[in-house]
Amino acid sequence: VRTAAVIPAAGRGVRLGPGVPKALRALGGTPMLVHAVRAMADSRAVSLVVVVAPPDGAGEVTSLLDAHALPERTDVLVVPGGESRQESVKLGLDALPEGYDIVLVHDAARPLVPVDTVDAVVEAVRDGAPAVVPALPLADTVKQVEPAAAPGEPEPVVATPDRSTLRAVQTPQGFDRATLVRAHGTVTDDVTDDASMVEQLGLTVVTVPGHEEAFKVTRPLDLVLAEAVLARRRL
Ligand code: C5P
Repeated sequence: VRTAAVIPAAGRGVRLGPGVPKALRALGGTPMLVHAVRAMADSRAVSLVVVVAPPDGAGEVTSLLDAHALPERTDVLVVPGGESRQESVKLGLDALPEGYDIVLVHDAARPLVPVDTVDAVVEAVRDGAPAVVPALPLADTVKQVEPAAAPGEPEPVVATPDRSTLRAVQTPQGFDRATLVRAHGTVTDDVTDDASMVEQLGLTVVTVPGHEEAFKVTRPLDLVLAEAVLARRRL
């Protein structure tokens, strides 16, 4: 069974501060997106990577990827993305050739996911799960709040879900292709990950152990952490 990875990389990365789109920011001198593509290509299971570029940036992303070495067994396809992450993933799926029956969806913003995590996700899909997410226990207690009455007013806490039953989920998320295509063709609600669309179809999503280094580069401090992880790997 052949596996493809779709990498949504069309986000602006506003929370990271001003500058170029997030996926094009450098980490250890190499664009974050190149790290993310390599992280997928490092898995022997993955033979195609579909990169979903900013809507007006497909040319720039193509030249960027051409300028960086990737394993020869991996094909790369670049397509323009959309307004939301969900739309970008859908555009990536639409571009997927026949013959790839397992699809990973991986955030460009998680450039340092270890290959063992990627392989564990693929393995669980091969074993028959329609949808698989890497998951970690939470360090923080999580509160559910009510919206503030007005900007600057406090947010009243309404509940504290039992932390032991909560997980923070990462990417790559892995899917049986037909299931993911059906989810993207059916679910129109705003979602923040692909697995939740499969949940909405009534199917069971399973977890595999996530990894600390698969964290999402979202805020400026995450760039500091990512540089430190890279520096440690180069020792
Ligand atoms: O915004 P967030 O951090 O959740 O974005 C996760 C991933 O989705 C990022 O890799 C980002 O580039 C991608 N994305 C996208 N198209 C959008 C918005 C986000 O491909 N319109």
